[in-house]
Amino acid sequence: MATINKNYSKLSANYLFPEIARRAALFVEKNPSVELLRLGIGDTTEPIPEPIIQGLRQGVEALTKIETYNGYNQGEGDIRLRAALASHYLPLGVKLTPDDIFVSDGAKSDAGNIQSIFGAQNVVAVQDPAYPVYVDSNVIAGRTGQFEEGRYQGLVYMPCLAQNNFFPHLPEQKVDLIYLCFPNNPTGAVANKKQLKEFVDYALKHRAVIIFDAAYAAFINDPELPRSIFEIEGAKKCAIEINSFSKTAGFTGVRLGWSVVPVELEVEDGPPGKINQMWRRRQNTLFNGASNIVQQGGLAVLSPQGQKAVTKLVEFYMGNAAIIRQGMIEAGFRVYGGDNAPYVWMETPSQLDSWQFFDKMLEKAGVVGTPGSGFGPSGQGYFRLSAFGNRENIQRAVKRIQDGLRF
Ligand code: MLT
Repeated sequence: MATINKNYSKLSANYLFPEIARRAALFVEKNPSVELLRLGIGDTTEPIPEPIIQGLRQGVEALTKIETYNGYNQGEGDIRLRAALASHYLPLGVKLTPDDIFVSDGAKSDAGNIQSIFGAQNVVAVQDPAYPVYVDSNVIAGRTGQFEEGRYQGLVYMPCLAQNNFFPHLPEQKVDLIYLCFPNNPTGAVANKKQLKEFVDYALKHRAVIIFDAAYAAFINDPELPRSIFEIEGAKKCAIEINSFSKTAGFTGVRLGWSVVPVELEVEDGPPGKINQMWRRRQNTLFNGASNIVQQGGLAVLSPQGQKAVTKLVEFYMGNAAIIRQGMIEAGFRVYGGDNAPYVWMETPSQLDSWQFFDKMLEKAGVVGTPGSGFGPSGQGYFRLSAFGNRENIQRAVKRIQDGLRF
């Protein structure tokens, strides 16, 4: 008799973004005349720039001729793309080899799957609030107990609140896997080198592994802030980094990402190289590699013309972030993030909880945002606005919020 994975029944709620879409659809059903403006999910809106489209076309073209056709790729990713990604880190002073790099169909898959190569008994620590995939993947894998009073038993929450500038304190107990995301989704906070070093030192001391989500690294404006955890000495021994082409190149629907699992990485019960080898095994066994068309697009993203185009896209979305940030400050909200990250994080006013504020935003402004509590207990009383959107809609959304929701 087949039985289910009972860990699924521990999951606290529907996955956040479909739940937002469901509630927004319900609102539209009841209010068909309202045109909703969507600043909820961080989904790109601007077309993919021409130099990158050319790369994707080349990928398609290659499939049309017998001489250039190729079928299965390496599970780790096209060696040319892995080499280009290694070079991409050089300006940061980070030396990697293609063996350290694994191409995937997006950061979300890697963020969800990476836990599978670690032992079931590992104690997991997450920033709170956090991108829900880190928590849910570990719940499904059985590394937590039940969801009680807004928290999973056995999971270590590291609160990130205005009081600590949204940077977590080190865990007081020994933990084994630590998820960090900077620039942070959802708070928009960015760690400096000294702060990251504290975590690297902790991980080295406790032989823990940091899973560092750098999907928004390209949105950092401040040249002093680290864009990769590997800018911190010792990190190659204790960290994995996940990154993405989604938000920079407009690949949210195209799907392409990569992870750095350094050969040097060590764990308590395995020599250097073990984790790298296990992730290689995992990817080759359960994944046949990202689409060859899309990987050709990825190469185009990393070309000089591609990088120029990406810089413009990033500047565009950061222009949106500045408009939202300023607009919300003018409307009287207490606002964070949005200066080195494409997310603006704000406190909900008048003691409204995050979902109550979500409803108010819908009713009074016809704007969809993301309730902070959907990212964890410390997100309660906060709300996220995404800077991914076209300019006119962003401006209209800000105006509607200012007109309908001034506090
Ligand atoms: C978000 O809005 O947090 C992200 O777009 C979700 C994702 O990248 O999967």
